[in-house]
Amino acid sequence: MAMSDQTLQKASSFPLAPGPKGIPILGQGLRFYREQFRMFVWMRESFGDVVRDVSAAMPIVQIFSPEAIEQVLVRNAKNYTKDRVLRSWNLVFGDGLLVSEGETWKHDRKVIQPAFSPPRLREYEAMMIDQSKKLAGDTRWSPGGQIDVFQEMTELTLRIVLRSLFGEESNANLTNQEFHALSHALEELANWFEFSSGPWMFVTLLFPWFPLPARFRYKRAVKTLEKYINTIIERKRVELKEGNQKGTDLITSLLTASDFTDKQVRDHALTFILAGHETTSLTLTYTLRLLAIHPEIQDELHAELLKIAPRGESPSHEALFRCELLSQVIDESMRLYPPAPVLAREATVADVVGGFQIVPTSSVIIPTWAIHRDRRYYGDDVDVFRPARWTPEFRKALPRAVFLPFGFGPRMCIGMGFAIQEIKIILAEILLKHKFTIDDPSTPMRLQASITMRPRDPVLLRSSGGFSNSNATPWLN
Ligand code: HEM
Repeated sequence: MAMSDQTLQKASSFPLAPGPKGIPILGQGLRFYREQFRMFVWMRESFGDVVRDVSAAMPIVQIFSPEAIEQVLVRNAKNYTKDRVLRSWNLVFGDGLLVSEGETWKHDRKVIQPAFSPPRLREYEAMMIDQSKKLAGDTRWSPGGQIDVFQEMTELTLRIVLRSLFGEESNANLTNQEFHALSHALEELANWFEFSSGPWMFVTLLFPWFPLPARFRYKRAVKTLEKYINTIIERKRVELKEGNQKGTDLITSLLTASDFTDKQVRDHALTFILAGHETTSLTLTYTLRLLAIHPEIQDELHAELLKIAPRGESPSHEALFRCELLSQVIDESMRLYPPAPVLAREATVADVVGGFQIVPTSSVIIPTWAIHRDRRYYGDDVDVFRPARWTPEFRKALPRAVFLPFGFGPRMCIGMGFAIQEIKIILAEILLKHKFTIDDPSTPMRLQASITMRPRDPVLLRSSGGFSNSNATPWLN
């Protein structure tokens, strides 16, 4: 008997997980649309650590315990692939790292990993500081004026990821109009991701040929991005051939590290742009909003930053990474608002998780947002922004699989070091110059689920604007 048959037979002697009855085919889809991530908290509290969406058209299971998560993401990771919704976006991601599987993924991850090593990341530092300073000094951030923080952070992180990928000159050559065309194309992709992973998910999955206007806009957006990337790949190949390469950007690393075809380089580049800018922008947006709601923590952080940048210069890399409060603020913000609110896998063979049978083809959902709000690990104040909880003892005692902003196991985010460095630099540069306030701190933020967790409305903050970062700043008054 084949191994998978044995596993299947063994697994089938275990019960299916319990779960709520829902609307036939849609399952809990509409409830999710109404309640968003709170639905997962309700599921866990009502049904336990392994819960099935009983009425959905496809087998869907949610898992919540660290043991179950470790099993799916680490111990039995080879029995799971990325899920079908992510795969349905292959027009964008192609064979990029986020969705590739098996030997292709293994080879490419190994080849690309060195481009994300700490010494390589340090090469992007000066550019990240420069870009952040430019924005922090922008006259549009005038004292008292309102800023749409998500929009500002998205532009900044897009500029940074493009410069890291393609080098200084390629980005500088972009006219404002071209930059906005790229931003617009990325926005169209985000719209499609949201549409095709929402209540319409089954329709878009089951009828991929159906001529929806949203699908048409999505395809057009992919073409715009492809055209831009392909032009740069072509130019870089010529530079390399002529021995005339400039800088050590990511594309040059991809072109020199392996015998990647242009299509493979395109897939990786597009994946880095998509995986690498909005996630970072969301973390910055949610962090700045939380700090505006909690002025006492913002003041404390500002004071800490002043200590490491006393004469108005940028903090050194070492000082920035030693700043404990900055790390605590970022971790607490990512706990409450993980930019990737769920991780998803598909079982290729039968498995038993937490005592329940997982049938092959099941979607296994790991709802990060709800796991980060589990009282068993985070205490009774799970909904409170309290960076001080992240003491060394707390970090040590926390099961590894219940803090998942960057995932866990072999498929963990390759850009984590890049993102943390970027987030720390941007927060330091901005918070040294601006104090943020929010007009109505008690109005809850409406969120919308997609591949990322985005704010539904503009996140409007007021900046005190324009202070020089010297000790004499009136900032703390
Ligand atoms: C705050 C920022 C970021 C967050 C929260 C984040 C989150 C994640 C998560 C949760 C995963 C795992 C997905 C899974 O297991 O299904 C992931 C994978 C990935 N991320 Fe990030 N990410 C961030 C920044 C970046 C950046 C800056 C880059 C690149 C420049 C990047 C590139 C990738 C890639 C390529 C993968 C797939 C890795 C693989 O499967 O080998 N990410 N990210």
